[in-house]
Amino acid sequence: MMQTESTETTKADQFEATEEFALMLDASDPLAKWREQFHCPTGPDGERLIYFAGNSLGLQPKKTSEYVQQEIEDWQKLAVKAHLGGRKPWYSYHENFREAGARLVGAKPGAREVVMMNSLTVNLHLMLVTFYQPTETRYKIVMEWPAFPSDLYAVSTHLRSRGLDPNVALVQIKPREGEHIIRQEDIDALLEEQGDSIAVVWLGCPNFYTGQVFDIRHITAKANEKGCVVGFDLAHGAGNIAPKLHDWEVDFAVWCSYKYLNSGPGAVAGCFVHEKHGNNSELLRYAGWWGDDPNTRFQMHRQRAFKPQPGADGWQISNPPILTMASLRASLEMFDEAGIDNLRAKSIKLTGYLRYLIEQAGSEAFEIVTPADPDSQGCQLSLLVLDKPKERFEALNVAGVVCDFREPNVIRAAPTPMYNTFHEVWRFAEILTKS
Ligand SMILES: Cc1ncc(COP(=O)(O)O)c(C=O)c1O
Repeated sequence: MMQTESTETTKADQFEATEEFALMLDASDPLAKWREQFHCPTGPDGERLIYFAGNSLGLQPKKTSEYVQQEIEDWQKLAVKAHLGGRKPWYSYHENFREAGARLVGAKPGAREVVMMNSLTVNLHLMLVTFYQPTETRYKIVMEWPAFPSDLYAVSTHLRSRGLDPNVALVQIKPREGEHIIRQEDIDALLEEQGDSIAVVWLGCPNFYTGQVFDIRHITAKANEKGCVVGFDLAHGAGNIAPKLHDWEVDFAVWCSYKYLNSGPGAVAGCFVHEKHGNNSELLRYAGWWGDDPNTRFQMHRQRAFKPQPGADGWQISNPPILTMASLRASLEMFDEAGIDNLRAKSIKLTGYLRYLIEQAGSEAFEIVTPADPDSQGCQLSLLVLDKPKERFEALNVAGVVCDFREPNVIRAAPTPMYNTFHEVWRFAEILTKS
């Protein structure tokens, strides 16, 4: 599978299991400087923790407080006048993220395919109102198994609101018996067999549980060919993998910004609407005044009908929360400067090294469920712990590692290229395999 056009591979003979080798990789890391740009929690002895939980909540960039403080001050000093006269005027604040957001997910430059707004699940609802248009014969929604619960609830709501029974109209594609990863050939077969009755294909990429990255390009092409609309939940993808949503013709996507994008708890989320739909003002949507034309928005006396502005901006509803948008600004500036392709290249090596070290240790207590092909994985490795899972997770915790546990027995560890090191990967593997 060659969707991300990654140039770096992770052949085992590229690595060595020694501490010196890990330190050598850090010494030659062109992205090493970014680590110091983040705050990181410390343990009781004041030592920096090994933070491998960026798949859950990213670290705080040091710039964040300055940018948030700037808006606090503009509010203090300018109040309502900051809407147009602030240092970063609030009226058009979201426009600051248009191009940087587009670069993150491979949207078309200048085409307004990306807008940062709301939260992930809210954006999913907005997209489903528009893109889920069931007919008598084409009414199913396909999701992966396991899907993130919020997605499952949102999708079920839309089925029920159109009078459909989720037990019939929701199709979840599963790994085969005894396997953890969903096979591409099984997705293809489903589309082949049921494509004519599928309205929307909605997949999490990477999957939150297994870390599996789906072949977005292949699935979109196949599903579009069958007449299905295709969307992706990039909660675990944004700032992690480097999709090309425009070129791959993905219809829509949503993501959150508090994981790999380091924008803080409950941060403002992202939404992508492909250019092929973005300028269609006829599409049904939950309208609000922020989706309307900003030049005529305040001509309230006219009481005219909603006129969506072009692109993803036309799906906005409310005026944005500027204080949290300010933390997004701090984060996206860093991604833009570091470059998502450079980050992805380091990530493939970093996570590849983690896999190598765990496999080298040869322990029968773990099984890595995330696929080994670099194009099918992001930062995260999901480890099925076959022996004493909770005790091993606790041992990591005590040793100063922050990662997470998903019931019944999966440890998720996500070294991120922005702020983690090869030496941390080496230490993590030592602690894990010797616990
Ligand atoms: C895959 C996935 N989808 C949806 C969500 C829900 O996001 P939110 O609470 O921002 O709506 C999450 C949150 O972690 C997630 O991981």
